[in-house]
Amino acid sequence: MKATFRIWRGDAEGGDFRDYGTEVVEGMVVLDAVHRIQAEQANDLAVRWNCKAGKCGSCSAEVNGLPRLMCMTRLSDLPLDAPVTVEPMKAFPKIRDLVTDVSWNYEVKKTIAKFKPRPPDAPDGTWRMAQEDIERVQEFRKCIECYLCQDVCHVLREHKPVKPFIGPRFFVYAAALEMHPLDVEDRLGQLRQAHGLGYCNITKCCTRVCPEDIHITDNAIIPLKERVVDQVYDPVRKLFRIFSR
Ligand code: SF4
Ligand code: SF4
Ligand code: FES
Repeated sequence: MKATFRIWRGDAEGGDFRDYGTEVVEGMVVLDAVHRIQAEQANDLAVRWNCKAGKCGSCSAEVNGLPRLMCMTRLSDLPLDAPVTVEPMKAFPKIRDLVTDVSWNYEVKKTIAKFKPRPPDAPDGTWRMAQEDIERVQEFRKCIECYLCQDVCHVLREHKPVKPFIGPRFFVYAAALEMHPLDVEDRLGQLRQAHGLGYCNITKCCTRVCPEDIHITDNAIIPLKERVVDQVYDPVRKLFRIFSR
């Protein structure tokens, strides 16, 4: 059958949607259709992709207004009686067509305090860890850095240049470090102030779009907020800190 794809074409200066009709067959995903259009009608259409298997995080875009990986969005799950809109992520500057500049995220990552292990537990330089402590952070390591959660977060979309806010992807990254059983670095002050953890109002939009099904809000952001509250606002802990100094 034939389907229409309404693809955003343009660059940082501006652009518009253009309609492309193309043949689609069973089993195709949005990225297949975009590639077919690129091969047959629009050789200069810019699109970023790599693995075509939902693992590299390169093909992020907005399909029918929702942040999605194009390679994991099946045409059979979309209504094809109306044009399928495909546009670049809105939270990042446009480069060309479907490609955005996500380099801001690389700079943010550099600001998060790195892994700092405690001294080894045994004379041979090894550590001992409980299995349940290791399992707690495994979920966070599934992140493919697609930045779809960053794209959907209203704090980043609406306030990025104004408010200091690293976004859900980097709360997941910070949680993986903070909850690591060997790590002794304290990132809570940084998360509260420079990284804007308090601006997250737990709407869970980021969790809903994560292709790796990471429970961003429940398992990363809320526990980080609880740790900040414990450290900064708990009066008993505060007294304990004063007297133990
Ligand atoms: S839960 Fe927080 S980080 Fe996630 S989208 Fe909402 S405001 Fe952004
Ligand atoms: S947390 Fe999920 S949505 Fe966010 S960058 Fe990682 S894989 Fe993508
Ligand atoms: S091409 Fe790698 S995630 Fe889509």
